[in-house]
Amino acid sequence: MTSVALAFSGGLDTTVCVPILKEEYGYDEVIGVNVDVGQPTEEFDEAEETAEALGLDLHVVDAKDEFAELCFDAVKTNATYQGYPLGTALARPVIAEAILAVAEEQGCDAIAHGCTGKGNDQLRFEAVWRGSDLEVIAPVRELGLTRQWEIDYAAEKDLPVEAGDGGVWSIDENIWSRAVEGGKLENPNYEPPEEIYEWTAEPEGETTIEVTFEAGVPVAVDGEEMDPVPLIQHLNEHAGSYGVGRTDVMEDRMLGLKVRENYEHPAATVLLTAHQALEDLVLTKNERSFKKGIEQEWAEKAYQGLVFAPVVDALNAFVDETQAAVTGSATVKVSGGNCRVVARDSEYAVYSEEMASFNTEDVAGIAQEDATGVAKYHGLQERLANEVHAGVSKPELATDGSGMDETSETDDTRE
Ligand code: ARG
Repeated sequence: MTSVALAFSGGLDTTVCVPILKEEYGYDEVIGVNVDVGQPTEEFDEAEETAEALGLDLHVVDAKDEFAELCFDAVKTNATYQGYPLGTALARPVIAEAILAVAEEQGCDAIAHGCTGKGNDQLRFEAVWRGSDLEVIAPVRELGLTRQWEIDYAAEKDLPVEAGDGGVWSIDENIWSRAVEGGKLENPNYEPPEEIYEWTAEPEGETTIEVTFEAGVPVAVDGEEMDPVPLIQHLNEHAGSYGVGRTDVMEDRMLGLKVRENYEHPAATVLLTAHQALEDLVLTKNERSFKKGIEQEWAEKAYQGLVFAPVVDALNAFVDETQAAVTGSATVKVSGGNCRVVARDSEYAVYSEEMASFNTEDVAGIAQEDATGVAKYHGLQERLANEVHAGVSKPELATDGSGMDETSETDDTRE
């Protein structure tokens, strides 16, 4: 008997995959796996009902704690991709690993997902799965299925799934972010209606929120210690009620397509803002500037679903080295949908009020007049260069394009 493990959410794509894997791919048995990274409970209820109606054996795996840990790695790294805090991107490898573990434990021969051939998720899943001996199947992509075809097929087979609209928007939700795309939002010039938002209220009112960190990891909110998952959930609700954490981005997907995405992520916004503020206080200028490059690289890899790559371990090692001193707190003000830092405090601040103050003199044996020598040298090379260049005649820029023709003529003659 042959069997295949399917990433199963109970939505249209994964529901049609169940009969297709048997009829088109010839598997005797399909096992559904639904991984909990903080989707709304209704989604699990829906998946369970659909599985039952399909006679599908459904395994549910709780990966919220593991996922939250990865989200906190992203906080330590100040990671965002084109303004997006990477919720879906970070969740996919965690989901893929959990499904693979079930597939192996159940002795499956193959593993399947319902992703299309246009998005990032197919790549993120398969980057994990293709390291196993299991056959990887992507029915929607391989058979070129369209949404309309799936709707007709589901109706014809009488599949227990909302045949039809299935909602106006395509939504992907976990504890770190809620992504909304599709429908009229596909027109980048269309302003999102208030109805697309579920986590964030219309921005009004203001409050302050203090986040405490230990070695870069958020441990308390407004003085109350919390575990990672409840801390994130609390901030999503609390900051979300002030309208914080909405982004509307033109996102460059891995396959080169530019897509319009709308996101909600109140907790991510508060934690990233507060963490950055605390780092600004405790890291040296050199650490801060070098870390920027590390952060960019980490975010790119995370977007690609490659957080398990050796290079990410190496980047994490650098980040962790810098985080030892990122202990303390930062307070943000959430107001009118914005989130900005208003206070920060750490016993490891690389800051001396005495040295920086305008009101003190001669600290650490340094007097104001000691800067005179530095001021004399500062810009020395630039001043000299400008003087020398004043005598240099610069090539004239062609204004009518004749210059360019001349160049190509010369090139032609040379060839
Ligand atoms: N574009 C984002 C990503 O690739 C999120 C995709 C979310 N999916 C959705 N159905 N809205 O990470």
